Amino acid sequence: MARVLAIETSCDETAVAVVEGEPSWPTFAPRQLSSVVASQIDLHAAYGGVVPEVASRRHVETLPFVLEAALQEAGLGVADLDAIAVTCAPGLVGSLLVGLMAAKTLALLYDKPLIGVHHLEGHLFSGFLTEPDLRPPCLCLLVSGGHTSLIWMKDYGEYQTVGRTRDDAAGEAFDKVARLLGLGYPGGPPIDRWAQQGDPNRFPLPAGKLDHPYDTSFSGLKTAVLRLVQQLQQEGRELPVADIAASFQACLTRVLTEKAVACAEALGLSTLLVTGGVAANRELRARLLEAGHHKGLRVIIPPVALCTDNAAMIGAAGLCHWLRGEISPLDLGVASRMPLEEIPALYGKGGRDYREVLTGSAVAL
Ligand code: KG4
Ligand code: ZN
Repeated sequence: MARVLAIETSCDETAVAVVEGEPSWPTFAPRQLSSVVASQIDLHAAYGGVVPEVASRRHVETLPFVLEAALQEAGLGVADLDAIAVTCAPGLVGSLLVGLMAAKTLALLYDKPLIGVHHLEGHLFSGFLTEPDLRPPCLCLLVSGGHTSLIWMKDYGEYQTVGRTRDDAAGEAFDKVARLLGLGYPGGPPIDRWAQQGDPNRFPLPAGKLDHPYDTSFSGLKTAVLRLVQQLQQEGRELPVADIAASFQACLTRVLTEKAVACAEALGLSTLLVTGGVAANRELRARLLEAGHHKGLRVIIPPVALCTDNAAMIGAAGLCHWLRGEISPLDLGVASRMPLEEIPALYGKGGRDYREVLTGSAVAL
């Protein structure tokens, strides 16, 4: 049995978890022993979005307590664990640095290997925490505030992005439309609620036609909602918030469902994993489950706490790398962007001696 500690600070959640598991390839069923998430949403709500510098500062203040809580919940100390996993890309650089420095400190102090984890690979592993019999190949629809991607998981550690957003991520579109409607930040939950009482057919909105079958574009949809709101305001009419929310949500969730299902069919994949904050959306869940039912496609949507940012998913991905003998060098850095295809570069550069790393610097030996 192997156990890892995992740290996630790529955006506005400070999260630490302990995850355990053993190899059972081709399946992999990690278990979460603890998972603590300190959200900064209230802090950023006043600004209408995440403020990077504010986020990093809050991570610095909160991380030690989240770490302590996660270890207590698991009933373990760092010395009991086999490795330290940490999100190192993509994300807000200042925020990533806080988590990575904490992870390196623990790795050095307790003489444990460090495992850098790609945040999106982490999201994929929320599925393995949920469904013990899940195994690659499968397709993953990742829909969050920063990402809208269709990822083909060919095998553990082997991914290809087959669809992506050309402009706004799905969650970003929810947030921007919610702002237009005066519903606050984050915008997904209130739009989800308002849409329940609205007429989704009242306002026909553009789906954003693209030449690529699996890429998405939601900026046209967002602009159409902006025009609609401006027009109604000019006419001095009260905003039909529920109907606009329902029409917008229907359009966006239909596009995502159609693209994901068509992509799975084209690639001959029988499992679709859906994750990221927007996977909490009730209409999206219902549409995907219904489409999956009709097409014989198994649709897996983890519980909301695992779909939104958390460290358990990072621990699951880190544990998988650890079990495959992949660890990161201590001079690992962070990156705001990193294609999934570059994941192998995070591992196995070999241990570097400090004299090699510090060449040219003024170090008294
Ligand atoms: O994955 P996440 O927690 O954070 C990252 O972006 O990494 O996703 C947050 C996004 C926000 O844009 C939020 O508005 C959206 O997920 N969201 C939703 C719902 N709950 C959260 N969007 C639609 N419907 C929801 N129920
Ligand atoms: Zn995320």
